[in-house]
Amino acid sequence: MNSSYVVGIDVGGQTSKIGVVDARGTVLAQTVIRTDTYSDVAPYIVELAEAVRKVIKEAGAEVTVIVGFRSKDIVILEEEFKACADRLILMTDDGSYGRHGLVTQPLKEMLEAGEEFDEVLAIGPIPMMKFVSLTTKPFGTHTSVSLNPIMVDGTGMCGGCRVTVGGETKFACVDGPDFNGYEVDFDEAMMRSRMYAPFERHAHEKTCNLYRKEVR
Ligand code: FES
Repeated sequence: MNSSYVVGIDVGGQTSKIGVVDARGTVLAQTVIRTDTYSDVAPYIVELAEAVRKVIKEAGAEVTVIVGFRSKDIVILEEEFKACADRLILMTDDGSYGRHGLVTQPLKEMLEAGEEFDEVLAIGPIPMMKFVSLTTKPFGTHTSVSLNPIMVDGTGMCGGCRVTVGGETKFACVDGPDFNGYEVDFDEAMMRSRMYAPFERHAHEKTCNLYRKEVR
């Protein structure tokens, strides 16, 4: 499937419409699921993921999902990932579940084996997105990363989410959050994401102390 196609999801009160649209706005595949029959969001997400998988399949795409976790005890959404992927590769840092290692390993193996992808999407910690982009760059596979900088107003006015992309200042809240991974200054993004780390540590310790007092 060409990377200029997008999946659109219109969540309504009674129904949700899911479709694949090309650059001209032509709908290539579409489906509708009920929204109002769910009182819990989790089963709705599973059906939504299955509907997304169905329409992108109809539009001719195959999806490989690689997900990574620190260890087995924090693995989440495995069924949801399975529902929207033709192939799911689950990695853990300590090898306690799935394959042992980082998400970049199977990605590199597939690219080196000659597999071709129209688009690689990386969503997660900044260092992971940096190394996914470094992995795909020698193969020229278009790579989008979804940046998650600190956001304050979300309108492009406060500057909190400032990132440098292609040598230009961008605001992730209005210009992104998805950018070309080859153009992002990840080192600056990492440095800015750590700006409030001491405050976060202090707030966490304070909460822990409050909790300890409550249980005594
Ligand atoms: S969150 Fe304020 S400019 Fe983006």
